[in-house]
Amino acid sequence: MKKTILTGLRPTGNLHLGHYFGASKTWCEIQDDYDFYLEIADVQALTDNFNNPEKVRKNVFEITKDLLAIGIDPNKVHFFIQSQIPEIAELTVFYSNLVTVSRLERNPTVKNEIAQKKELFGNNGESITYGFLGYPISQAADITCFSGEVVPVGDDQLPLLEQCREIVRKFNSIYGNILKEPEQLLSKTSRIKGLDGNEKMGKSLGNAIYLIDDEETIRKKIMQAITDPSKIKKDDPANPDICMVYYYHKLVNTEENQETICKECKKGARGCVQCKKELIEAMNQFLKPIQEKREQYSEEDIKNILEKGTKEAQEKAKETMSMVKEAMKINY
Ligand code: TRP
Repeated sequence: MKKTILTGLRPTGNLHLGHYFGASKTWCEIQDDYDFYLEIADVQALTDNFNNPEKVRKNVFEITKDLLAIGIDPNKVHFFIQSQIPEIAELTVFYSNLVTVSRLERNPTVKNEIAQKKELFGNNGESITYGFLGYPISQAADITCFSGEVVPVGDDQLPLLEQCREIVRKFNSIYGNILKEPEQLLSKTSRIKGLDGNEKMGKSLGNAIYLIDDEETIRKKIMQAITDPSKIKKDDPANPDICMVYYYHKLVNTEENQETICKECKKGARGCVQCKKELIEAMNQFLKPIQEKREQYSEEDIKNILEKGTKEAQEKAKETMSMVKEAMKINY
């Protein structure tokens, strides 16, 4: 029996290199080893995009296409849409009794997000919604609804997983041993730096390269990438370790080329413009097969894949719900 794995992502934009190298590349590598549930978390996306439903809807399809393009196989992985599994919402209500408000307010992931979303939630989080504060409960429902045993996450998600485990323990201690405590599968590289040298590549930071970026967009972005600021002239020696161009060469170029680039840069034998041009070439080579694969899927294909995965997920969710309701004595 394969273990069950569950992970999710918020459909708020296309996938970028940060998502790819930080997470979804690993999902491709392990898709044979698990019974894999992949949730397009539209309900969670709405917790901070409730005023933009069009954006969330569009990105459900966009993100599914991106995931298929990088090689996630819909015959191995159940792709499903969170909103189409009402059991998740039901579980969220039941779990809400097991979590204190102060525990949610102390969750580091939630705290960080509130601080980042001042426009939506006020300078001190005074306008935080009930729904956003409670999304860790909903995420615990996402995982346990499918008896997720393993959850692949970046370290920013660990507090959410810890909160899920607490809910499971509390539930089991009151209603009987029904739910499984999930364990994390931490990604080796959980963070990819942005074009501007920021520790994190992110959509809201405006420093991302997207898997769907065309050649012209890639060219513009890479030409603006941050290099060693001490290098003024083309033949000044420089430090590749603080250069974003070299950082991305290490992600998408061959090992042989990486070595040459590193050596030449340190000796002052390569100019940044040349180096950027080579990166543009390597980046396009890297993205081309992904973009070609993406083109092969029609809107109809995507709909069918989501429909099939959602049906499979619904079956599993029903099983869990019947056990939960029996344990909670609400199985009328
Ligand atoms: N919170 C996750 C993110 O923002 C997305 C997510 C939703 C998730 N449900 C999940 C991740 C369940 C792991 C397990 O990226």
